[in-house]
Amino acid sequence: MGTRPNEIKPILVLGGTGKTGRRIVERLTERGLPVRVGSRSARPPFDWEDRSTWAPALEGVRAAYVSYYPDLAIPGAVEATHAFAELALASGVKRLALLSGRGEPEAERAEEAVRDTGAELTILRSTWFMQNFSEDYMLDHVLSGEIRLPAGDVPTPFLDVDDLADIAVEALTDDRHIGQLYELTGRRSLTFAQAAEEIGDAAGRELHYTPVSLEVHAKELTEHGVPPEFVEFLTYLFKEVVDGRNADTTDGVRRALGREPRDFRDYARETAASGVWNGSAVSA
Ligand SMILES: NC(=O)c1ccc[n+]([C@@H]2O[C@H](COP(=O)([O-])OP(=O)(O)OC[C@H]3O[C@@H](n4cnc5c(N)ncnc54)[C@H](OP(=O)(O)O)[C@@H]3O)[C@@H](O)[C@H]2O)c1
Repeated sequence: MGTRPNEIKPILVLGGTGKTGRRIVERLTERGLPVRVGSRSARPPFDWEDRSTWAPALEGVRAAYVSYYPDLAIPGAVEATHAFAELALASGVKRLALLSGRGEPEAERAEEAVRDTGAELTILRSTWFMQNFSEDYMLDHVLSGEIRLPAGDVPTPFLDVDDLADIAVEALTDDRHIGQLYELTGRRSLTFAQAAEEIGDAAGRELHYTPVSLEVHAKELTEHGVPPEFVEFLTYLFKEVVDGRNADTTDGVRRALGREPRDFRDYARETAASGVWNGSAVSA
């Protein structure tokens, strides 16, 4: 009974301390699989901005979860993800799971660039995460009692990142997912007004949604000290992605996992119970 080499090689999880990566690391660790976190604070560090960190992070790895930061729509992202995938293959890492963004032409270009390397690839093309309301910049909106965004009344089928993490783990460990493109959404599309209502009900606090123009939103972000390139990116996102084209739900979670996606109401109830929505806004 020899040890199979693949059983001891770690799986690299880029963004392994972030919203999706942290959950993937937890799940792989629970399965007893060795994991290497790929982020600036990890050892060895991995930094998208510093290519000298890529090879040490990939050394001796058998598969990698590729989550680009801050977003595949940022200039340079397509080239960087392509170069990373090429280096991964050259380092002997064939199996990749790529986090992509739904309705973003630049993200689709990154998918193609990574696919062209010949990697054993699974693409997780996801809509907006529910956890943006609790683990990202929309948390401050919730805590201030008012979600002010340029999203009109366009519905979004928010995805729970716990579903995404479940799929990423399957993609990294089961050959059945090689070559698959999973277009991922939650089970219901909600307008931001409906999302605010469900979060407010679950958290037992006053919360409403106020649609604002792209210009007002950009001005308010700048006033809160958000860096210009991030203001530009968010403006692009609301203009290009939240325009109704991506309002429909898909069967991606069911295809990948054989079960329905988690519902927004369950996310809101469990997140409220964690206490994260109990405080008051930091920057408002
Ligand atoms: N948010 C959404 O709704 C959504 C939806 C679909 C797709 N996506 C995709 O998700 C990706 C970003 O995910 P996220 O918004 O959820 O962020 P996130 O994963 O929560 O981002 C934080 C993670 O990125 C790491 N990180 C930050 N800067 C880095 C750098 N320069 N080099 C390497 N690692 C870095 C952080 O660790 P350190 O600080 O230690 O470096 C941390 O692990 C993007 O590619 C985006 O297109 C997001």
